[in-house]
Amino acid sequence: MASKNSLPIRGTLTVMVIVVVLAPSALLDQTAEFEAAFLKKCVDYTRDKNSCKATLAIFERAYVGKKDSAVTKDSYNELFDKTPFTHPCGKSLFWSGTYQLASRFTQKRDNFIAVGDTLLGYVLTRMTWCSKEGSKETFTTDCGDPWTVAVGSFWLKISIKFAQYACDDLHVMLDGETPQPFFPDTAFAEEEVPYFQSPRVKSLTVILVVNQKTGTKCNNESLKNLSNIMKGKNIRYACEEVTKAHIENCIKRGTKDCF
Ligand SMILES: NC(=O)c1ccc[n+]([C@@H]2O[C@H](COP(=O)([O-])OP(=O)(O)OC[C@H]3O[C@@H](n4cnc5c(N)ncnc54)[C@H](O)[C@@H]3O)[C@@H](O)[C@H]2O)c1
Repeated sequence: MASKNSLPIRGTLTVMVIVVVLAPSALLDQTAEFEAAFLKKCVDYTRDKNSCKATLAIFERAYVGKKDSAVTKDSYNELFDKTPFTHPCGKSLFWSGTYQLASRFTQKRDNFIAVGDTLLGYVLTRMTWCSKEGSKETFTTDCGDPWTVAVGSFWLKISIKFAQYACDDLHVMLDGETPQPFFPDTAFAEEEVPYFQSPRVKSLTVILVVNQKTGTKCNNESLKNLSNIMKGKNIRYACEEVTKAHIENCIKRGTKDCF
């Protein structure tokens, strides 16, 4: 019979055995789980399993076997070359500081498309991935803090591509309740605005989301800066205060003609 003193040792041994046996399969599971989640979302979107498998293989070539810091925006060139956007370029909606509202807004209509509504944006939203030098695996945990270079490089690249693809009359939803609605160091300011191309892009309208209309918030200094950048690019600029309640109402009712 085991004495009371021997129990902790047996417990420790059991834990060690479980860790040793489970660790390799848990790592394999991360790859399998990631691939299954990618394919499920892709097939939801395209209804084409074969093309989704091909897209997954191209996507994995961007980062698998590389250390995280070696994954750059250019690592995704092949992915974007082989998975071009197909949405109408004049329906592009940009946002900054308004993610929740803008994504709920575009989900309910087909007259505005945000990057998260494109195939790659939709599939990779809320996903995490990285690999390691020489590895064949995808890891979804312990990739980096707060996110991996592989993930960050992807979102920077898709933002640039989305902005380069945009055409005609564009809209951006900004937060009119912050001191600087057009905020430097954001993907919108750094990765999208610089890539708007005239004459491909004709105008940019800021939808300035406010709690209450004042008629003055479009005069904000940061928006004057955005207006000047557009002027320098020969792109028309407009700004409109729209209440959050109005947009919520459009989401609720599915109103197409919201602004
Ligand atoms: N998951 C996605 O869909 C996704 C991811 C990355 C980039 N993008 C693209 O980039 C744009 C959004 O990225 P972003 O970086 O501009 O927005 P964001 O809202 O993600 O902002 C990035 C950071 O800047 C801060 N910030 C944003 N606006 C601010 C303000 N006015 N004042 C103070 N802090 C502010 C936020 O709190 C956040 O920490 C979109 O137009 C989209 O096309 C989309």
